[in-house]
Amino acid sequence: MSHTEFGQPLLTFPEADKSPLSIRAKALVFVDPRSRQLRAEMEALAPRSLPVLIKGETGTGKELLARHIHRESDRAGLFVSVNCGAISPTYADAELFGYSAGSHSGSASSRAGWFGSANGGTLYLDEIGDLPLPIQQKLLAALENHEVTRVGAQQPSPVDVRLVAATSIDLAQAVAAGKFNERLFHYLSEGRLELPALRERPGDILSLAEYFVGIYSARLNLPVSFISESAQQVLERHSWPGNTRELENIIHFALLVSSGEEILPEHLNLPSAPEPLADIERQIDALFSEGSGSALQGLKALLERSALRLAQQAG
Ligand SMILES: Nc1ncnc2c1ncn2[C@@H]1O[C@H](COP(=O)(O)OP(=O)(O)OP(=O)(O)O)[C@@H](O)[C@H]1O
Ligand SMILES: [Mg+2]
Repeated sequence: MSHTEFGQPLLTFPEADKSPLSIRAKALVFVDPRSRQLRAEMEALAPRSLPVLIKGETGTGKELLARHIHRESDRAGLFVSVNCGAISPTYADAELFGYSAGSHSGSASSRAGWFGSANGGTLYLDEIGDLPLPIQQKLLAALENHEVTRVGAQQPSPVDVRLVAATSIDLAQAVAAGKFNERLFHYLSEGRLELPALRERPGDILSLAEYFVGIYSARLNLPVSFISESAQQVLERHSWPGNTRELENIIHFALLVSSGEEILPEHLNLPSAPEPLADIERQIDALFSEGSGSALQGLKALLERSALRLAQQAG
């Protein structure tokens, strides 16, 4: 457990990941009231073996949340992460459910497939909406019957898999459009978690930024640096279309260019803080009362800055 400057317990470092397939074991930084609510929902769902559907924009932390669900369950098996968009439709069946020896040319040995590898553990299916419809049906059957038939096998084998699926699209709409299996949708909807975009939980921004400063300072062997107040304002004003992943990349970059010194707005690869409106109005008044020939030039520059500011606010 570590503490932030806000005096609240912030990070609970998980035990070493159960899964050798895992790429990282990261803390879940959830400070904003919306995130705290989500953590409570996650903790209530995790120990039950219910399927979970996580909805969220790209980079919001869906996979990290899924890993924490697995850690907080008592499932002893592996956490197996599969991106459905990356599975070739031709081999989706064999990749997910495995194949038995001799089932197709060149397959001298059998393979368990992702589903079998997650036996006793958790199967994380990212962008489940990308799964071909026939595979969705086979997936539902495997989950409901607790058995899976490998490609080319005569008999099904028993499996016990907990499914955590993620989507960035609205699956109810996909069902209405005939692109997603309705029964699989209802099966998944037993446990639903909605990960808000980072701009919808602004209370997380600075805590996440500090967390990433800590991680990347250690990784880059730099002294832990601090984020200046003006840089904090820039971070808080940005709209984060790439969500937490974008914030992580921005901090990593800032540490590289600041070489461990205090992080300033110019180290952040983001539009810097816009000029306050009151300052712009004061300058316009000054130009008009001056009434000189250069006033028009000054006015032009001011209007350009105001337009830029409006564009930044809109973006
Ligand atoms: N609450 C958080 N605390 C700490 N790190 C986080 C948090 N949320 C996200 N991250 C980090 O941000 C990065 C993106 O998270 P993740 O890969 O889980 O997002 P995702 O929603 O699965 O993205 P995509 O939609 O692109 O698959 C990762 O490095 C992750 O560890
Ligand atoms: Mg992901």
